Amino acid sequence: MRRKDFLRLSIGAPLAAAFATCLGLAARAATTVRVKKPSKAWEATEFTFEKDGRDYPGLALRVPGADGKPDSIYTACRLCPHESCTFGFETNYQLVGRIIGKELSNPVLFCRCHMSVFDPARGGEVLNGPAKRVPWRFDTVDEGNELHVVALEEGAGEIK
Ligand code: FES
Repeated sequence: MRRKDFLRLSIGAPLAAAFATCLGLAARAATTVRVKKPSKAWEATEFTFEKDGRDYPGLALRVPGADGKPDSIYTACRLCPHESCTFGFETNYQLVGRIIGKELSNPVLFCRCHMSVFDPARGGEVLNGPAKRVPWRFDTVDEGNELHVVALEEGAGEIK
């Protein structure tokens, strides 16, 4: 039995919560998560990050380097900055380009609710609105074959 559960059984939930806080056993504001690091160009790994009791959909994407530069890993919260629909990663960017009437040159992040498009090769730049800002980002630590997702940008999911 975990100490936290033992306290809850012994003294009741309210007192157990107070003791747990004192002992540093209270629930953390965010739960870090380890995910498979994408290993091939434009490979994506989806994950869920819990913060303040809410689940945030996340994406880690390997963006190929241009002009001999090394690949990079782009991470984003998949909640659209427009009105919080969950957007997807779209490898058929030519089709998305036809839908929005623009010529696109690489896979994109595409929100089907109102057709916002973001460019992961340029830090999530908005290629098509109505979204007015780039997707919120995660902080990660590179651990070889895994990414340790440790934090989510403040304000994620807040629509203003
Ligand atoms: S919610 Fe994504 S474009 Fe509106």
